[in-house]
Amino acid sequence: MSRAYNFNAGPAALPLEVLETAQRELTDFNGTGMSIMEHSHRGKAYDAVHTEAVANIGKLLGLTDDYQVLFLQGGASLQFAMLPMNLLGPDQTADYVNTGAWATKAIKEAKKIGKVNILADTSKDIPTTMPDYDALAYTPGAAYVHVTSNETIAGTQMKSFPKTEAPLIADMSSDILCRPLDISQFGMIYAGAQKNLGPSGVTLAVIRKDLAERAPDTLPTLLQYRTQIANNSLYNTPPTFGIYILMLVTRWLLDKGGAAGIETINQAKADKLYAAIDGSGGFYKGTAVQELRSTMNVTWRLPSEELEAQFVKEATALNMSGLKGHRSVGGIRASIYNACPSEAIDALIAFMADFQAKNG
Ligand SMILES: Cc1ncc(COP(=O)(O)O)c(C=O)c1O
Repeated sequence: MSRAYNFNAGPAALPLEVLETAQRELTDFNGTGMSIMEHSHRGKAYDAVHTEAVANIGKLLGLTDDYQVLFLQGGASLQFAMLPMNLLGPDQTADYVNTGAWATKAIKEAKKIGKVNILADTSKDIPTTMPDYDALAYTPGAAYVHVTSNETIAGTQMKSFPKTEAPLIADMSSDILCRPLDISQFGMIYAGAQKNLGPSGVTLAVIRKDLAERAPDTLPTLLQYRTQIANNSLYNTPPTFGIYILMLVTRWLLDKGGAAGIETINQAKADKLYAAIDGSGGFYKGTAVQELRSTMNVTWRLPSEELEAQFVKEATALNMSGLKGHRSVGGIRASIYNACPSEAIDALIAFMADFQAKNG
């Protein structure tokens, strides 16, 4: 069986080269006679992997010493709670922007911990959109401002980031390292690995170290960023195999020219898919406002739900996986993360034209 054209939203496609390296090294990592999974997380073999993973993220994001790379567990969903637990003091307010399903979940968790102010709510808007971040009334003295850089379900993506007085925190789960970033604009960014970084089970957080000092001592040890910073994410046993794959993926990304190199590739992939949607004479209709269209999750509708179901069924028969829109919104979604090859998009575009010719 040939490799599928994988448009899954996450877990998502991984670079074939990475999978092949992992396969080659699976039973004998670097001549040690065992898998990296079987090594101690405190041993020399794993230490080299962990150190390279941290260094690769540092290079890709241009990190300075005031930031720390953390590999955590519990997914981005645990960060929805850990963030306010650590950074939102009892007399403070955290500003949130609600741009869709994922921001809604982040807000729900933060409200369990402290005071939350919703700066804007575009979560129910159709076509899907995001607010003008520069025009929002930020709370003076806010603990932080939380945004979702890419709404995976809505197919919208922030194209720039506001300058905020309070530390800016972004959930970048579905577009981390898809483009260059000025990290100095952020207090913290976080992302589950399973879209652009590796397998599920690892969560990347990059945090400005001074912010971690806000956490109350009463917070359970493992839930304090401070603990993870002091121990280089090795306070307890980390997800070693996931971090190993993340190391290989970030090495692959550096080979592609880093964030700038992959941005060029991503833009070309997204441009041709959106051009196919826009060139269909209205048979395919994009669901996000034009200027905020995501380069990672491309969402569109067909003239009827029946045709959408048929589209997904026929695409699946052609070895194209994961095109059904999220269960909460329907439609079609092609997730075209960093590792989704250009050939997969070419195959999808050819199928779209064929499907329209038969059903349009
Ligand atoms: C933008 C965004 N945030 C958060 C999550 C939740 O991530 P996790 O499953 O790692 O908790 C997702 C998952 O799809 C997502 O797309």
